[in-house]
Amino acid sequence: MQTKQTTKSRLEPFALDRAFTFFECGPVMLLSAAKDGQNNVMTASCHASMGFEPTVGVMLGAWNYSYHTLLETGECVACVPGADLMRKTIAIGNCSGADIDKFKTFRLTPQSAKIVKAPLISECLKCLECVVERKIAVGGAYLFVLRGVAAWINPHRKERRAFHAMGDGTFVIDGRTVDMRDKMTKWQDCI
Ligand SMILES: Cc1cc2nc3c(=O)[nH]c(=O)nc-3n(C[C@H](O)[C@H](O)[C@H](O)COP(=O)(O)O)c2cc1C
Repeated sequence: MQTKQTTKSRLEPFALDRAFTFFECGPVMLLSAAKDGQNNVMTASCHASMGFEPTVGVMLGAWNYSYHTLLETGECVACVPGADLMRKTIAIGNCSGADIDKFKTFRLTPQSAKIVKAPLISECLKCLECVVERKIAVGGAYLFVLRGVAAWINPHRKERRAFHAMGDGTFVIDGRTVDMRDKMTKWQDCI
């Protein structure tokens, strides 16, 4: 949808080291992992869908406790929290499982997964059980290629909207849904 421009608009240069925020708009993710029977969870917004298998690529820094758990166990659960969990999700990304039990602190309910040992999070809208397929060094962090092995949804949550990190401490909550299915003529098999 185009808005009316009052002056002739032109693109302006933007700081390259902030340009990752252009595309950091997937739903904010809660990533659960478990080691020695201890569950943990971290927040991740730097991720992208990489295929239809499904495969998801998540950038993880070695400074995270979860990074080491994923390396050791080779598995995790990638979950989508609703907007009602936004404050909790941000707080989860500002503390470490090395210091506290985040499931307990943030009153999250671990639910047994089907294939991996890491827990689903009952309060989330969607959870994808994943195994680590590859780890690729990218800049100062690592791209974990996660292959989904079982998928779950929670149809009972009242809040259905996910939220997205803009990369500068601001977040956008899902807005109006526009149904364009009848215009997706080439992709009728996919919808
Ligand atoms: C909104 C938000 C998004 C984040 N996205 C990422 C991310 O994509 N990758 C990453 O390595 N850390 C990310 N973090 C930081 C981790 O969640 C944070 O370091 C967390 O404390 C790690 O927990 P852990 O030590 O228990 O693993 C994010 C934090 C917030 C608040």
